[in-house]
Amino acid sequence: MSTLAVLGCMWGDEAKAKVVDYLGGLADYVVRFQGGSNAGHTIHHAGQKYVFHSVPSGILYPNSKCVIAAGVVIDPVSLLNEMDALTKLGIQFEGRLFIDERAGLVLSLHQELDSSAEAGLGANKIGTTQRGIGPAYADHTARVGLRMADLLYPDWLSSRLEALYKHHKRELDPALVQKLLQIKTRLEPFICKADNLLQEAYLEDKYILFEGAQGSLLDVSFGTYPYVTSSNTISGGICTGCGIPPRMINKILGVYKAYSTRVGEGPFPTELFDATGDRIRIQGNEFGSTTGRPRRIGWFDAFAAAYTARINGLDSIAVTLLDVLSGLPELKICTGYWIGERKLTAFPSHPMELQAVVPEYLSLPGWDADLSDCRKLNKLPKAARDYLEVIQDLVERPLELVSVGPDRSQTIAIKS
Ligand code: IMP
Repeated sequence: MSTLAVLGCMWGDEAKAKVVDYLGGLADYVVRFQGGSNAGHTIHHAGQKYVFHSVPSGILYPNSKCVIAAGVVIDPVSLLNEMDALTKLGIQFEGRLFIDERAGLVLSLHQELDSSAEAGLGANKIGTTQRGIGPAYADHTARVGLRMADLLYPDWLSSRLEALYKHHKRELDPALVQKLLQIKTRLEPFICKADNLLQEAYLEDKYILFEGAQGSLLDVSFGTYPYVTSSNTISGGICTGCGIPPRMINKILGVYKAYSTRVGEGPFPTELFDATGDRIRIQGNEFGSTTGRPRRIGWFDAFAAAYTARINGLDSIAVTLLDVLSGLPELKICTGYWIGERKLTAFPSHPMELQAVVPEYLSLPGWDADLSDCRKLNKLPKAARDYLEVIQDLVERPLELVSVGPDRSQTIAIKS
């Protein structure tokens, strides 16, 4: 039996979709278990660029089935737009997409609430993607939210919507019920009990790939709170998001970029504010695939990475975008944090503490060569191999994959 989780282990945008694309060809099921349309998973496949927000990226494989599990919050309008765009590119959904009936619904109300909450926070804003994710999860936890299955019961839907709008002291437009009922006719064939589906698939020895969204440092409980997303992005979120037991997760692969990035607000100890950061941003095309925002850039933070390796229970790691660092004369890796004379022994949980840390760096020589055609570890320049070895040693997890370009073929698999 084989299941694999592919998780972003920093602040998102670690090129997880590229790794899923590389490993997912044989997957019987590709499963999204948390987040929503705040995700932007980009895949370059057969000369075409695909950006996925809610649909699992496994939909590109004709033999893979795709599951949007209960832990995801779904904006049905955005999901249908995404499905329409993919249908135009020749992708089939019938019999291949499964949406758990318990998944929460994101409504335009939630997007409005997201924007007004951000405006209200002023200088303390989170820098959300404004997709309504936080308010939708908040309503779900407050038990006033709507779920996918509510679309199937018109009277119930209408009274739950009224209660939701009343809860937020807003006027419900009666046309919304009709609009949701129209959406229902299109989504109904895909609604199911995904926990049953996955448990049965597991017993039938199917290969299941869990595709994480965002990253561990954006986890609502263990990330850099409050500058986080509103779901559990770490491996534990797979169980609560899918309704499967921990023992059904056979292997966990953590994805790290060869440097760090973050979008939105919040402390970022290794952030670069100089020409090196600008160069990496341009070279790595570090602009958000959901919002287009320029991403903040920093050196690889092995202290944070070791923390996320532990909380996820990683079996191995993938390092992506290594090619982006070519041409830099010197590279730095953060090996620890100091506050005054005190060297920290654990990753800070409070923003005041994280903001106060001074990173300790190891300096390494860079390399000049273009890596994009390398397909074997021993073809990489020695400086690049040394760089990877330092990451592997500090994160204390074996390196399994290295990505040197956006294409599926631009991947180095490391045999253990
Ligand atoms: P939200 O998920 O839209 O509520 O945004 C909360 C925080 O998570 C913000 O800092 C966002 O920039 C960040 N975030 C959400 N989704 C992603 C993602 O897919 N990649 C990177 N950052 C994200």
